[in-house]
Amino acid sequence: MGSRLHGGALVLHGGDLKQRSNDTDFRFRPDSDFHYLTGLAEPGAVMVLRPDHPQPFTLFVRPRDPKAEVWSGRRVGPEGAIEHFDADAAYPLDELAEELPKLLDGVREVFVPFGRQRLNQAVLRAIGSLHRANRSGKSPPETLHDARVTLGEDRVIKDDAALAALRHAVDITVDAHLEAFRATRAGMHEYEIEAIIEHAFRRRGSTGPGYGSIVGTGDNATILHYVENASVLREGELLLVDAGAEWDYFSGDLTRTVPVSGRFTPAQRDLYDVVLRANQAGIEAATVGSTIDAIHERCVRILCEGLIDLGLLDGPLDAALEQKTYETYYPHRTSHWLGIDVHDAGYYCIDGEPRPLQPRMVLTVEPALYVGANDERAPQSLRGCGIRIEDDVLVREDGPEVLTHRAPKDPDAIEALMGAIARR
Ligand code: GLY
Ligand code: MN
Ligand code: MN
Repeated sequence: MGSRLHGGALVLHGGDLKQRSNDTDFRFRPDSDFHYLTGLAEPGAVMVLRPDHPQPFTLFVRPRDPKAEVWSGRRVGPEGAIEHFDADAAYPLDELAEELPKLLDGVREVFVPFGRQRLNQAVLRAIGSLHRANRSGKSPPETLHDARVTLGEDRVIKDDAALAALRHAVDITVDAHLEAFRATRAGMHEYEIEAIIEHAFRRRGSTGPGYGSIVGTGDNATILHYVENASVLREGELLLVDAGAEWDYFSGDLTRTVPVSGRFTPAQRDLYDVVLRANQAGIEAATVGSTIDAIHERCVRILCEGLIDLGLLDGPLDAALEQKTYETYYPHRTSHWLGIDVHDAGYYCIDGEPRPLQPRMVLTVEPALYVGANDERAPQSLRGCGIRIEDDVLVREDGPEVLTHRAPKDPDAIEALMGAIARR
């Protein structure tokens, strides 16, 4: 990071409280880039980093205010920002407009996330005031860079601390899925499964889900971002759970699909086996030098072959691949970066080409098949079911490491897990 910033300054905003309704807000979640660099999780804060300066790190934070803190919680304050967050200098937030031009004077390039309007305006105003003061010796920056690019390229390669946090987030995630599947019974509601999962997250000290937990039974599993989680689980259906715990602002991302009754029907198992084969082949392809596109193509080929074998798609394979007829059953891509954000920062393509995988990248492999309730081509036994098998994979020199390996996905292992407690 520091080397790319050489001669420049990075300006980030820590994020604001977001209104939930009327006068209540969602719980604060700091901007990922800001927290990644500062460790601070307070609304409104701004950081300025100038690596070449004798005092490189400046924070702007809410001032201490005992009365306000009674209502809305403790504040670190400028002194605390220096003492606890290693700032070289710190100011109350309302001094940003006055101090920012001083901090940017003589800096050649400014890195700021494009599209963050208030922050962008604050930076442009500071640059404007340096222009006006040029006759008195001030030097305005001349180049703006999108900080999301620079930081994304840092975040896409996980250091030891990031990997430790991610491993812990994944461990909590797996434990929660295991608890939920042991408890799954026909007659429960999807929200009860959600509650078991999120209770397991919080009980282990997680801040909660890193994204809205998806708990979909039967046809609901065919809705990719289904979060209502309100239906009753019925005997004979498949239940898809996609949920990930957040730990130290890193998120797990795990999907398992299990039979509500504890046993797959033969037809469900056939479809499940296709997705499992794709998942395993996709993981095998997550090697140094490979690409996310190559993983996707490998999965798509296996899914397509399976769909043709099961009579859901017309062959030949090459025509199905060429015409993308499989998209009815598999409309999304296979992988995304995973880290602080569940869909983490970092380019997927560079100069229009998929980037080669490098050691310490973490990605998901999540092939799936979704059969709509009204799919007249599909046998009744498969209509209204979605199967996704998602793992989190660390790219290593010696091959892919499946961080989520403790979550069973072999159908026999799933049936054993679900039968571990006497079922009704
Ligand atoms: N849970 C979001 C995803 O799998 O991408
Ligand atoms: Mn995912
Ligand atoms: Mn997921």
